[in-house]
This record gives sequence, structure tokens and C-alpha cells, in this order.
Amino acid sequence: MSGHGTPIPMTSSPCGPLSGVAEVPGDKSISHRSLILGAMAVGETRITGLLEGEDVLDTAKAMRAFGAEVTKHDDGSWSVHGVGVGGFAEPDNVIDCGNSGTGVRLIMGAMASSPITATFTGDASLNGRPMARVTDPLALFGAQTVGRKGGRLPMTIVGAADPVPVRYEVPVPSAQVKSAVLLAGLNAPGQTVVIEQEATRDHSERMLAGFGAAITVEDTDEGRVITLTGRPELKPQVIAVPRDPSSAAFPVCAALLTPGSDVLVPGIGLNPTRAGLFTTLREMGADLTYENEREEGGEPVADLRARYSPNMQGIEVPPERAASMIDEYPVLSVVAANANGVTMMAGVKELRVKESDRIDAMARGLRANGVTVDEGEDWWSVTGLGIGNVPGGGTCESYLDHRIAMSFMVMGMGAQSPVSVDDGGPIATSFPIFEPLMASLGAKVARG
Ligand code: S3P
Repeated sequence: MSGHGTPIPMTSSPCGPLSGVAEVPGDKSISHRSLILGAMAVGETRITGLLEGEDVLDTAKAMRAFGAEVTKHDDGSWSVHGVGVGGFAEPDNVIDCGNSGTGVRLIMGAMASSPITATFTGDASLNGRPMARVTDPLALFGAQTVGRKGGRLPMTIVGAADPVPVRYEVPVPSAQVKSAVLLAGLNAPGQTVVIEQEATRDHSERMLAGFGAAITVEDTDEGRVITLTGRPELKPQVIAVPRDPSSAAFPVCAALLTPGSDVLVPGIGLNPTRAGLFTTLREMGADLTYENEREEGGEPVADLRARYSPNMQGIEVPPERAASMIDEYPVLSVVAANANGVTMMAGVKELRVKESDRIDAMARGLRANGVTVDEGEDWWSVTGLGIGNVPGGGTCESYLDHRIAMSFMVMGMGAQSPVSVDDGGPIATSFPIFEPLMASLGAKVARG
């Protein structure tokens, strides 16, 4: 339940060693893109390892509403019968993307260069998030938008009947914005060019190439220049979604903080535009190793092995690494609270416009559990107390944000007293098996 349902309070109690194998679900970013690109290809795309979290299921529903046939099979795989670039039908009803910024922003891009109209909404978190960052470039293609004050959902987009290609420099480091422009560019004639100053996750570029689009990426003095040729016929693919590094972060960090732990997290996507957390943890002195490094479906993959790490040191996380670990700062701050010395996280303004204001949400919860946090608009720092010295005992608000809820559950595992969250319901958006999986490792996460 991504905020539509009754809150689910959860408590995580200090626990003994965590051990075993943590098979985390499929990558959320790649899952959304598999469904959307599958819907824009001609023919049947087969997907294994799709994340069946609420965010992605909402995208599956949306693709059906735009005319694609999306089916889950008995063997757990999914298929998408696509309608081709420019083939979207006009939905009969409002598209509800639940909690998912990625879902709504990518789908807006995918429909904005077709002559159809669609209205989008979401839960209280999503309806508070800025959409102008996407609708501004979509207007350049010829799409029109009417939304609430401040560019918020619910919002109606009238797609361009005669789209023109666009050259757009993304003003914020956002893979969602970049991807929305590229998806809109698919149905514009000629070349759409997107320029980004900081490399953000590149799954869209990789997958568009995989689906047969003509797309080039060049590092230039201007930035990272992505050029897409419009109106390709996308060819259906067989996709094996790697496991999500952003979900792997939780059992990995839990193992680092819990005495005696030794956890293997197999098959994790280690795309360099996503793996910043693991680099950071190793710099802090975490006992985290990559085993069996390989390539799967065009993405680098490894098995992660995390062991209890009692001597981690606070560090300055380089701001230029922010995009590659943007979703992992909440759980990093929990590790930082257990390290020795201060961890400084700068260049992270984007954290304020995620599912929640993640700096504010974490700062409040950390302080409620005895940890000192300092913050500015685009930075924050956590003063580490040393391993096992976080008092705990507090209740934290999750603000409809799955990663906030899971971070505080991890904190409880290595704290002196249990840590609670007011609502763990949002965890189902990205990591629906979080509770049984953590329990199988030896964690004590209970509802109530
Ligand atoms: C995502 C991009 C990031 C990230 C989100 C997933 C994507 O958002 O935080 O969880 O799949 O493109 P931004 O584009 O807002 O940085």
C-alpha cells in the first residue's frame, strides 16, 4: 500500500548475527523501462526477474491503459505485446502511478509526442513532487500540460500531434528527466539530443540501443551528449532484469552493522552509474567484497558479500558521486551513525524532492534515536557514534517513503534499543519481500 491504505507501524529490534543468502528483487529502474519500451516495440518482449513491487505494477497497468497487452505467466515471467512507437491508444481513464516518480515521468515522456490526451495522478507523496522538470522539455516537442499549482499532479497532458525533435540540456541531474525526453524523442522525426552535465543512471540509453534504436552517447566539453534518431521500429527483446543495487543496500548495510554477520547478496547490478554506495562503504572500511563478477544482459553484475565491520570511519562523500548513489544516502546515513567520526554528504539537493525530503526525514529520525545531524539546503552530515553505540528507542516517520522506512529498520538491527517507524507500508513499492527476507537472515522486524 503506497499511502492509500492504513499505516503499518513496524519495529526493528537489535539482533544477533545476520547470515545467509539475500536474494533481493529485480531492479526497479530497469523493470519500469522494460515494460515501457516493451509497450513501444512491435511484437512480444519477454521479461524475467521483473520487480513485482507496487511502483512497477502501476506502470504495467498504465501500459495496458495505453493499449499494450501485459501478461504475467505461471512461470513468473512477464510478456508485453507492444503497439509500436507512436501506437499508444488514448487511455479511457486517469492513470494512477501510485508512489512512483519514475513511472509517471517516463510514461509522460512516452505519450507526449503522440496525438492523445492522458491525465495522471498518484498518492499524496507523488502529487507533491515537481513535474515541471519533465513537462517543460515535453512542451518543446509540442505537448501541452495543465496541472495544479507548482506543476503538481493531477495533471493532463495533451500529446503533440506534430512533434518536433528537441535539443535539451537537463538542468538537474535526473535520469527521469533525461529518460522522459528520450522517450518523447522516439516519436519525433529527426534527432533528439539530450545533454547532461553529470552522468546519471544510463539504463534508458543502454536499453534503447538494445531495442534497436539509433542512439549515440559522447562525452564532450559541453557534457554528456546523447543523440537519438526518432521514429525507429523498436524490436522486442528478451530481458533478464538484474537484482536491484538500491534494494541490496539494505541487507548489505544491515550485515555491516550487526555483530558476527556474513551475508551474500547475489546477482546485483553494478552499473557504474548506480554503484556509488558500495564504493563509499568500502572507502569507509566496510568488509564488502565483489565475488563472481560477470556481465548479464549488458549490465555488470556481481555477488556482494558483506560482513560485520566494526571499524568504519566517517568520510567526505565526493559530491560528483551523488548521482550514482542518490537513493542510497538514507541508508548510508545509518551506517555513518555507526562509524567513527563525521560523514559529510554534499551536492545532494535532489534528495529534497524524492518520495520525501530525504534529508529532513532522515535527520528527524536519526535525532529521535540519539544521533547528531547537521544540514544545509544541499548537504548534510552525520556524527558517528561508533559501532553499536546508536541509542535507538525512537519512533520515526517514514513520510510515504519506502527507503526511509527500510533505513530505520536497518538502524534498529544494530542499535541499543528497538527503532520504530509509523508506517512501513511504502516498503511494498520497491521491496515487497523485505520483511520475510530480512527475517530469513535473522533480523527481528515486527509489525506494530
Ligand atoms: C530513477 C532516477 C532517480 C532515482 C529514482 C529512479 C530512474 O530519480 O532517484 O529512484 O529510474 O530513472 P531522479 O531522476 O529524480 O534523479
